[in-house]
Amino acid sequence: MSVEELTVATIFIENQPRQANPKQNLLHACLSLGYDVPYFCWHPALGSVGACRQCAVKQFRDERDAKGKLVMACMTPAAEGTRISISDSDAASFRAAVIQGLMQSHPHDCPVCDEGGECHLQDMTVMTGHRLRTYSFGKRTFRNQYLGPLVNHEMNRCIQCQRCVRFYREYAGGQDLNAFHLRNSIYYGRHEDGVLESEFSGNLVEICPTGVFTDATLKQHYTRKWDLQMAPSICVHCSLGCNTSVGERYGTLRRVVNRYNHEVNGYFLCDRGRFGYEFVESPARIRHPLVDGKAATKSEALERFGTLLREGNAIGIGSPRASLESNFALRTLVGPERFYAGIPKGELQLLNSMLRILRQGPARSPSLDEIEHCDAVFVLGEDLTNTAPIMALRLRQSVRQAPMRIADGLHIPDWLDHAVRGAVQDAKGPLFVASPYATKLDEIATATCRAAPDDLARLAFAVAHVIDPSAPPLAGASKDEEEMACKIAKALLEAERPLVVSGTSCMNQSMVEAAAQVAWALCKAGRPAALSYTAAECNNFGLSLLEPRPLSEAFRAIKDNPETTLIVLENDLARRSPADEVDSLLRDVRHLVALDHLGNATTEAAELVLPAGTFAESDGTLVNSEGRAQRYFQVFDPSSEVQSSWRWLAEGAAAAGLEDQVLGHSLDQLTAVMSDVMPELRTLPSVAPPRSAAGKIAREPIRYSGRTAMLANISVHEPKPPDDPDSALAFSMESGPGVVPPALRPFFWAPGWNSVQSVNKFQDEIGGPLRGHDPGVRLIELSSRPNWKYFSVIPPAFAPQPDSWLLVPIFHIFGSEELSRHAPGISQLVSQPYLAVNPIEASLLGVKAGEQLKVLIEESQYELEVVLRADLPRGIAGLHAAGPPLDGITLPVYCRLAAVGSELSARGAQ
Ligand code: SF4
Ligand code: SF4
Ligand code: FES
Repeated sequence: MSVEELTVATIFIENQPRQANPKQNLLHACLSLGYDVPYFCWHPALGSVGACRQCAVKQFRDERDAKGKLVMACMTPAAEGTRISISDSDAASFRAAVIQGLMQSHPHDCPVCDEGGECHLQDMTVMTGHRLRTYSFGKRTFRNQYLGPLVNHEMNRCIQCQRCVRFYREYAGGQDLNAFHLRNSIYYGRHEDGVLESEFSGNLVEICPTGVFTDATLKQHYTRKWDLQMAPSICVHCSLGCNTSVGERYGTLRRVVNRYNHEVNGYFLCDRGRFGYEFVESPARIRHPLVDGKAATKSEALERFGTLLREGNAIGIGSPRASLESNFALRTLVGPERFYAGIPKGELQLLNSMLRILRQGPARSPSLDEIEHCDAVFVLGEDLTNTAPIMALRLRQSVRQAPMRIADGLHIPDWLDHAVRGAVQDAKGPLFVASPYATKLDEIATATCRAAPDDLARLAFAVAHVIDPSAPPLAGASKDEEEMACKIAKALLEAERPLVVSGTSCMNQSMVEAAAQVAWALCKAGRPAALSYTAAECNNFGLSLLEPRPLSEAFRAIKDNPETTLIVLENDLARRSPADEVDSLLRDVRHLVALDHLGNATTEAAELVLPAGTFAESDGTLVNSEGRAQRYFQVFDPSSEVQSSWRWLAEGAAAAGLEDQVLGHSLDQLTAVMSDVMPELRTLPSVAPPRSAAGKIAREPIRYSGRTAMLANISVHEPKPPDDPDSALAFSMESGPGVVPPALRPFFWAPGWNSVQSVNKFQDEIGGPLRGHDPGVRLIELSSRPNWKYFSVIPPAFAPQPDSWLLVPIFHIFGSEELSRHAPGISQLVSQPYLAVNPIEASLLGVKAGEQLKVLIEESQYELEVVLRADLPRGIAGLHAAGPPLDGITLPVYCRLAAVGSELSARGAQ
């Protein structure tokens, strides 16, 4: 066996034989084996560049070599027989000298630095033993920049490790952050002050090993990191389910950081997920029950709820942003046949189709880690950077998979980052993006196609036919369509791990089916194709697993019988249906009960409002677009009546004396009931260990301060921490013995490792799965007996209309999502609603950019600012809706347009 084929190498560390992965470098291997080696510039996601010289170790030729030589561990392969010493005195003093050099200009400001206490530079300084500063001259200083409301800049703390620009530019594709050199001064920033443009800029906060880039939202309500009470959580701002660790102090939520999950988000979050948390402290929060519009106590609210439920005739509308448990509790309370999805009918149909396709077809839905390792990708109808940002970040890495073969051929290990990039240059693997308008991923795409949703679906059907001629052909395909289809099909067929991505953005059934057709054709051709569907909200897939009825049927049921009690769960109906329909429903229904955490049109109309907990004040399970069920846990016990919606519903059932509605009064009881009732959810209890099975787990770190004093204004006696009936997590610093299961780990910390890099101590192999397995259980798997056949209905080609436009949604990472809009930091970056049209069509309409345009959608007329987009196909207009009433418009829809002052034809939608 050649050296390159070895999967395990024996290396000697301090003369002890250890098993290592020869495909790794020595730093990676040593950290994986549990050794402490200081480092700065290396990162498992970025690879090695050897810039900081901090990871020096002594390497020996063989056991007789007593002299050895210093090498950088991150730049040296863990090859069979390698002998090194970490503790060698030359290596140790070299590392201390490097730190001393870095510290020369580093300010002595740890006590006031936002990074203090969670700083990799502090940890590495202590690890190297550098304690005394002897440099007494002036320090190099810089001017800081304003980088927007999300990220702070303090350049004097920089140690020139290069991680920030490597992440920002090479990994995430950003352009507006760079290294600027002037003699001995290297400046990391923008060419001028301004908001960072990357959707992933918040990761600088974690990637920078010191306090140059820090969380500007935390700064608004700063607390020391060790004073945060924390809990494991799941991001609620898109369907990917990134894992987060959220922190609270004095009853308010302070920040969100990444919680490593190898299969899902790895080391990163998008800015919406990281900074959107501030909606929890929004002035629009509902913190107390309201009965007939007046503040009420919990018992008064439950009394009214019980009375309404006893009257009978209740129906429930669920929500894709509420947990599986809360939706299930509502479904049980009103009965499955009276439980409706809180999303438009078309969206529910798409989700049901996706579930059917993923279960019955031969193509599996991949994890985000698997997506990163796909080597040819076809994105159909999605603007992923704005709708599923971390998937877009993963796809940016996937285009490196195929060119890696160039580096392999040159025997360059994949971790040797600059050498790999030098060998690969601008080569990119196949990525095809077909969407109604230009997306950010286009810049790394092999080819793009911009067309109406039906035409995009047609292209995909054509691709499927090229891959497998037994798939139905596309009648009347144009030459361009044929050429593009052949190009995409060839690339997918040649790949080892092809992937097709689509979703609900275009609300197009043909597109969902066409994506499946391509993946299925690949499977039939013997390729292990993966098929990934994204959705708009964090629990779209969980909601559809509960088989709700379409929302329109709820509207009809109330019209037929207004003597109904309507219970709306964490949902603003004004976002789901046209305003006139919602207005008449809310007016006509006899009783309206709303459970939610932010005030909206639905809660305003409700007779009874119950304050629901956000992800920070409640527990529950969300099913992400992979089909992975993941649990989030309450971070703090709210002092108000806020509680999980499922608990309100269970207590309401009890208040009404509805003994037959078996819901359970704790999370474990409820998940047990759910797994009994719904075969699809039988594995739900294993998503996280039940309370009884895990020992007590502290939400507070051992350095948590002030607990005896923080409530001294109320009582000088330290109060007993609140009990948590729903999980093994305790509102205290005390943990029981035993290993904390990854799904219940509130934060990563290990002695000597106080920064986010401490996750190293919880992985079997650095950058690999968490020890004990990554959190989450897949609920959507392929059937053991696939039952599928090709779709045969291909839509006709889109034909632009002479006097109407097909209006499609345009997504923005900030503004297109309901909850994060309420975060003060993000709200500063939300663009106003606008209507985008092709410049040629704008000139025909007689409007210019920035002017107002009249838009007639069905019976409603709006005036919107015009944005010109040459990438929009003729006959297509784009709507960026950033709030009500535009949120309630179900797109795509035909509309009519006219310049303000011109007449709109009275003809409505076509
Ligand atoms: S700003 Fe931070 S990440 Fe960038 S080079 Fe300086 S220390 Fe490294
Ligand atoms: S990609 Fe989605 S789930 Fe992940 S952090 Fe961003 S908004 Fe949250
Ligand atoms: S970590 Fe090895 S040189 Fe920087």
